[in-house]
Amino acid sequence: DKGEYRHFMLKEIHEQPRVIQATMEGRITDSRVLEQALGTEAGSLLDDVRHVQIIACGTSYHAGMVARYWIEELAGIPCSVEVASEFRYRHHVIQPDTLFLCISQSGETADTLAALRQAKDAGFRAALAICNVPGSSLVRESDLVIMTQAGPEIGVASTKAFTTQLVALLLFTLALGRHNGLSEKREADIVAALHRLPGQVADALALDGKIAELSKAFMDKNHSLFLGRGAMFPVALEGALKLKEISYIHAEAYPAGELKHGPLALVDSEMPVVTVAPNDELLEKLKSNLEEVRARGGELFVFADGGAELQDQPGIHVLQIPEVHPITAPIVYTLPLQLLSYHVAVLKGTDVDQPRNLAKSVTVE
Ligand code: F6R
Repeated sequence: DKGEYRHFMLKEIHEQPRVIQATMEGRITDSRVLEQALGTEAGSLLDDVRHVQIIACGTSYHAGMVARYWIEELAGIPCSVEVASEFRYRHHVIQPDTLFLCISQSGETADTLAALRQAKDAGFRAALAICNVPGSSLVRESDLVIMTQAGPEIGVASTKAFTTQLVALLLFTLALGRHNGLSEKREADIVAALHRLPGQVADALALDGKIAELSKAFMDKNHSLFLGRGAMFPVALEGALKLKEISYIHAEAYPAGELKHGPLALVDSEMPVVTVAPNDELLEKLKSNLEEVRARGGELFVFADGGAELQDQPGIHVLQIPEVHPITAPIVYTLPLQLLSYHVAVLKGTDVDQPRNLAKSVTVE
């Protein structure tokens, strides 16, 4: 039931404050992650993990890419991320002390399951699943499971599943960090940021009207570019995927530093450029990338936090996002990009909930 909403996708976008809260429920205190809430054996399993191998497809893969930044920063453990369809068809090396982490909304994605089954034969420390469907094949075949509490996701374009995957991945990272020198102070700081998250996500949703306005600039375009740095690069990838999937506008994402290594040649007034730029240490670098785009007549859409001191000016549209903790920023910044793709698709009149050529769950190769 779509309730008051015109599409399931919009309904699911608006459910995010609640389902993010539900995904943290019972798993954190005021200042700590409750490791036992991740499974009774979580502690002993996490103790010997020396490497994390993440496997997923599509949007779930983007969640894994964000997690890599978190895991290496907060737990200091090397982490690799690969799409399942590549991993399963190449010769790979898995070290015995590897935690094999599959991320899947449905838990039935054929390539992800095949990768897990193959890796089992090759040996690893333990398999962790981050999944939204209880009783799915992935859940049944994993040693440790963190369920996202997104509830059924009907829209083919994944929204609430992605942000709840990120929450589950951050909880996991904090637990892993505790076994690997993450200070109590840092953990408490990030848990406090998690407590603020549902409210901040609701604030981001309040930008809906402004985003609907911006979306008009994309309606008649054939191409677009999404830029981000650090953990915001996968957020840019996810924003581009959403736009392609439901509006059929070609969208590509680049880590902003790669711009001058090729894609800058594409930029002109017909190519809107979207940038996700929280006010973190990379912002100064990103500002010079923005100048490169503007100098070539590109129209820029910048999602930045209030402290970023970026102003609307000719060729630059700035949409201010409430200030957020740098670690939780990828979660909050995902929402305006979801809304942007939604509004562009509605303007174009595409089938938002059931885009052409796509299925919700890819259970065949
Ligand atoms: C994109 C989307 C797909 C899925 C992918 C993996 O909006 O929904 O890219 O993310 O097919 O599906 P799961 O997560 O079910 O394994």
